[in-house]
Amino acid sequence: MTNVTSIQDKHPPPIRSQSRPELGLGNVRPLSIGQVKIGFPVVQAALSGYSDGPMRIVARRLGASYSLAEVLIDRFVLDATNQHHARRHLTITDEEHPVGGQLMGSNPSEFAPAALRLVAAGFDVIDINFGCPVKTAVSGCRGGYHLSQPDVALEIVSRTRDAVPDSIPVTLKMRRGIDDSEESRERFFRILDGAFARGVAAITVHGRTVEQRYVGPSNWDFLREVKQHAGSKTILGSGDLFTAQACLEMLRDTGVDGASVARGAIGNPWIFAQANALAAGRPLPEPNLAEQRRVLEMHAELCLKSSGEKQAHLTMRMFGIKFARLHPQFTELRNAWAVCRNMSAWREVLEQWYPSG
Ligand SMILES: Cc1cc2nc3c(=O)[nH]c(=O)nc-3n(C[C@H](O)[C@H](O)[C@H](O)COP(=O)(O)O)c2cc1C
Repeated sequence: MTNVTSIQDKHPPPIRSQSRPELGLGNVRPLSIGQVKIGFPVVQAALSGYSDGPMRIVARRLGASYSLAEVLIDRFVLDATNQHHARRHLTITDEEHPVGGQLMGSNPSEFAPAALRLVAAGFDVIDINFGCPVKTAVSGCRGGYHLSQPDVALEIVSRTRDAVPDSIPVTLKMRRGIDDSEESRERFFRILDGAFARGVAAITVHGRTVEQRYVGPSNWDFLREVKQHAGSKTILGSGDLFTAQACLEMLRDTGVDGASVARGAIGNPWIFAQANALAAGRPLPEPNLAEQRRVLEMHAELCLKSSGEKQAHLTMRMFGIKFARLHPQFTELRNAWAVCRNMSAWREVLEQWYPSG
């Protein structure tokens, strides 16, 4: 299918294994995170700058069984007043459940009260970020930095797990380490084992190191090793999931319990329906231009409702550019989106490049 192939070309999925039995339902077990039943194990990852309410709803309507909100700094959550900006991050609509909220911070004592705020806002799962490689996060001793200090990381886990009601699962997101050293690997497993021992319900592992950021492939051999190590504990895998095929291959080749789709879902929310279809042995739904327009319009409407005209045009310009990768005239369309200055210009681009109904 042309559209998805264009994404595949940009990020070719690595060849993962020699023996390649058919992909299908036999490889797919329903996912649960603690008491929260997720179902189909291909989920929408936390994506800073993207996975806000509208993106999560679109993913949900197109088949994502679970999604995570973009990471929030614990201090931001604690300082959140009734201001529109803060409220937007803490608003969840009924159709989004189950939905996870993710926290990042440096000080163990701030995670617990921030997690309770997220619980009060209605998040079904609290996820702790030990993966973010962004310079400001690492230099501020947040995110991926915690992989270098297991004692602090585990204190964060304990405090959060102790504070949050038993009915709400606490989960972790980790990269496979700070770097490729043996010391980093030992720390990874210390945190992983310690977190499960402290009651964490699931851990998502991104198979790149913090040092690696996004350069080079996600190490799926490491994901397989982690799942073998974790046994019956729930592990989700992350990294290089750009097609439905890749999602099912990750489940099959590594044995992880869930596949967490990140960049592959930005501008291609059909990946969830495609993964469902592939697992069921049905033909993959192909988003033709009319379908792409329908979803862009839906996304814009949700954005306008949640954040108003000014923010919506910035967000939808960004998503328009991402969706353009599925359009046969990608370059021209991307250039047209890039100069949109308001929602009426945005609608004109939509009108010009996508047929209605
Ligand atoms: C733009 C962007 C924003 C991200 N934001 C978050 C985030 O808020 N929380 C998180 O745990 N991971 C975040 N990630 C990491 C992804 O969830 C995922 O682990 C990573 O992109 C690897 O998957 P991929 O290679 O399939 O994209 C982000 C990644 C990108 C590209």
